[in-house]
Amino acid sequence: MKLFISIAVAGCLLMLGGEPCLAKEKKATTLREAFKGKFYIGTALNRAQYMGYDTKADEVVKKQFSAIVAENCMKSENLQPQEGKFFFDEADKFVAYGEKNKMFVTGHTLIWHSQTPRWLFVDKDGKEVSREVLIERMRNHIHTVVGHYKGRIKGWDVVNEAIEDDGSFRKSRFYKIIGEDFIKLAFQFAHEADPDAELYYNDYSMYLPGKREGVVRMVKSLQAQGVKIDGIGMQGHVGMDYPALEDEENSIVAFASLGVKVMITELDLSALPAPKGNRGANIADVAAYQEQINPYKKGLPANVEAAWENRYLDFFKLFLKHKDKITRVTLWGVSDKGSWKNNFPVRGRTDYPLLFDRDYKAKNIVSKLINLAAQTKQ
Ligand code: G3I
Repeated sequence: MKLFISIAVAGCLLMLGGEPCLAKEKKATTLREAFKGKFYIGTALNRAQYMGYDTKADEVVKKQFSAIVAENCMKSENLQPQEGKFFFDEADKFVAYGEKNKMFVTGHTLIWHSQTPRWLFVDKDGKEVSREVLIERMRNHIHTVVGHYKGRIKGWDVVNEAIEDDGSFRKSRFYKIIGEDFIKLAFQFAHEADPDAELYYNDYSMYLPGKREGVVRMVKSLQAQGVKIDGIGMQGHVGMDYPALEDEENSIVAFASLGVKVMITELDLSALPAPKGNRGANIADVAAYQEQINPYKKGLPANVEAAWENRYLDFFKLFLKHKDKITRVTLWGVSDKGSWKNNFPVRGRTDYPLLFDRDYKAKNIVSKLINLAAQTKQ
């Protein structure tokens, strides 16, 4: 036994060039390793990525991320384009990808006013359906989809973007036809279909005080009615000058105080200037304006990149500060090439919101985030 230990220690000393290896912890070299024990670090996947066509992405995703969410393939227009006809082929591949790579898989999203199939709100004559019919359609969609992935999808964005920035209910067709109870019903149906799945409410601009209060009100009301809700997803479509970190922090704290998990979902930091509201009507201004709102077509200048990195680091410092409340931080995409931000809020721009460049090369921010996480105690 003694002989074995001496051999092991001698081997260690050799391997580490003389450093006492027993005292040395293995240094994290990927985001996945660095954030382990703090929160899941996730990414949204697009079709080419989960189908395995994008081999460069595949390498990055497997190595760097511990959680995935589908950018589009689990939205209702894709899963049930015609009433009663469900298409699970692509979503099945997405879920299998997560399982194969031991990732936390989130389903996005069951009930959202956008990307709904045409038939959902109308009958065969095009007339708006009754409350009862829409509830039944919601029940069938949720039961079928959540039931299909029972035990495999660990968390669902059950309702997405139902609250306006001022805290009132969005006047979506779900709201207009069913009333605010559509939210409660959606959570109940999801719970019936998979009692073990975590159920989330997910929305953007959650840092706005009005929206924060509206979401807190809505979640408290669900809890008072005995409805299971496990978490709140704060979409992170952020910019260089919004939101104020203090507002973001106030929302993290307010949501956690409801006794639910907080997740930063859909994180991407635009490096581009936000377009101005009213540009006037002078046609001669258009070219100058185009240049002004799409200024970095060939790459970010060093000073802009440095500011962008610092802003990302500031956000992650905040998330790490609240790692007792935050269970997952998910980027909305892998590489700048596929980011929706290249087309929003202005089409055809060249934006740089994600952690990997257009060729899937890790930007400098990746090692900075790894170091930041490593410096943060468990
Ligand atoms: O798949 C079709 C393709 O067949 C067709 O050729 C092509 C032509 O435009 O469109 C493709 O579908 C597009 C799809 O993205 C896949 O690229 C849709 O038109 C386009 O509308 C859709 O955009 C998605 C958007 O949600 C829809 O509202 C974005 O990729 C996706 O990033 C975005 O994600 C949302 C979250 O789900 C909720 N929160 C906000 C976030 C950003 O809008």
